[in-house]
Amino acid sequence: MVKDVDSFYGIITKKQNEANMSEPEITQKKPYVLELEAGDYWWCGCGRSKSQPFCDGSHSGTGLTPQKFTLTEKGKVWLCGCRRSGKSPHCDGTHKAL
Ligand code: FES
Repeated sequence: MVKDVDSFYGIITKKQNEANMSEPEITQKKPYVLELEAGDYWWCGCGRSKSQPFCDGSHSGTGLTPQKFTLTEKGKVWLCGCRRSGKSPHCDGTHKAL
């Protein structure tokens, strides 16, 4: 039970902050289409990296994490830019509904 207005709004603000912190940002509503060499990569899962679509550590404190993927040979990839794909780090077409 909320006892006063300040407590009520304090609760709402806290809940909004928690929701914002766990929501990944949409950097673009289309995939990043890249030709990459074989190797290990870290896809940005929070959308806050300045090195899109790869992690630069900006997820720190958000509760969100990057996702590692490995290419065994050089190839073209379609990495999700909307952060809503069900097959991350790869685009699954979900961005078309945003
Ligand atoms: S860019 Fe996210 S599903 Fe296509």
